[in-house]
Amino acid sequence: MSKNRICELLNIRYPIIQAPMNWVSGPALVAAVSGAGGLGTLGPNAGSSDITHDVELTGERIRERIQTIRKLTKFPFAVNIVVGFGEDTKYSEKVVQVIIEERVPVAVVSVGSPRVYTERLKNAGIKVLHAVSTAEHAGKAQEAGVDAVVCEGYEAGGHKGLTELTTFALTPMVADAVDIPVITGGGIADARGVIAAIALGADGVYMGSRFMATRQAESHESVKEAIVKSRDACTVSIPKGKMLARDLKNSFTEEYLKLYESGAPLETIIDFLDRNSAYHAQHLGKAGESEICCGQGAGLINDIPDAGDLLAAIVKDISAGFAELEKRLKVFL
Ligand SMILES: Cc1cc2nc3c(=O)[nH]c(=O)nc-3n(C[C@H](O)[C@H](O)[C@H](O)COP(=O)(O)O)c2cc1C
Repeated sequence: MSKNRICELLNIRYPIIQAPMNWVSGPALVAAVSGAGGLGTLGPNAGSSDITHDVELTGERIRERIQTIRKLTKFPFAVNIVVGFGEDTKYSEKVVQVIIEERVPVAVVSVGSPRVYTERLKNAGIKVLHAVSTAEHAGKAQEAGVDAVVCEGYEAGGHKGLTELTTFALTPMVADAVDIPVITGGGIADARGVIAAIALGADGVYMGSRFMATRQAESHESVKEAIVKSRDACTVSIPKGKMLARDLKNSFTEEYLKLYESGAPLETIIDFLDRNSAYHAQHLGKAGESEICCGQGAGLINDIPDAGDLLAAIVKDISAGFAELEKRLKVFL
């Protein structure tokens, strides 16, 4: 069996990382992906049935989910740490404490500086993957000592920086900027995307939305069905302060953009977001009128398979895809 830098680093068979997803990637999905040879990542709130603002409870819920994952799989897995800013770091502080106590093998750190937790995590023997959306930030993450960078292109579902660099442009820039392994994501939904990512210089791939439409994802059935029905230009990037979020187009994105562009006061916008948050779509099933973070690859998703079978099918399709690629490239050789 051949290995690459990501497989060696994370002790996994295939360099396919299931990206963390708020309310979506819970223990069943994580265990299915890790069990199939990839790396599953526990996302915030996944597995919960209500919203909590209690720091202790946030930590204990993560602990319980980590213990559940361990009952379901013996393979390595990751937990997401959303660093956050200001007051909000009290949650990530707690999550860091719990994952160190629980000896989680890998942390996927996002939305914040790599200087905040990298040293503590590494001293505890935890491998650190840090999410960035520019080559400059990839360089800073490397300087801070992370084990690998995850670059997220503009196509990606969910929240990221204000940059609009696409996976196609960003991946080789990041690969040139750092010596540590590079994982790339944003718009990857099948074997063709994996082959392209590796060709662009990545050592591994990061896939969120594709795994949202699987049997083990915690997403409400109405969300999974909305993704399967989506075609073509079915997502939109919406501004949220210092971030951009990519969502499936629905009445939420339409009304949000109207409100935002009308110059509505911040409190009105925050209230609208709270009333129509991912919890309302992913947990309560209000798929038409609440926020569904989703990447541009949604138009490539046509089914709701078992997550382990999906990973195996992608791996299988890579051989055929590679043979086809060789044929097509012959014209240059
Ligand atoms: C529903 C959903 C929720 C997400 N929640 C988080 C999150 O809580 N933390 C995080 O770091 N990234 C989050 N992301 C971003 C993903 O980790 C990843 O960057 C993205 O899914 C990759 O692009 P793709 O969806 O095109 O595969 C989320 C993405 C989606 C689709």
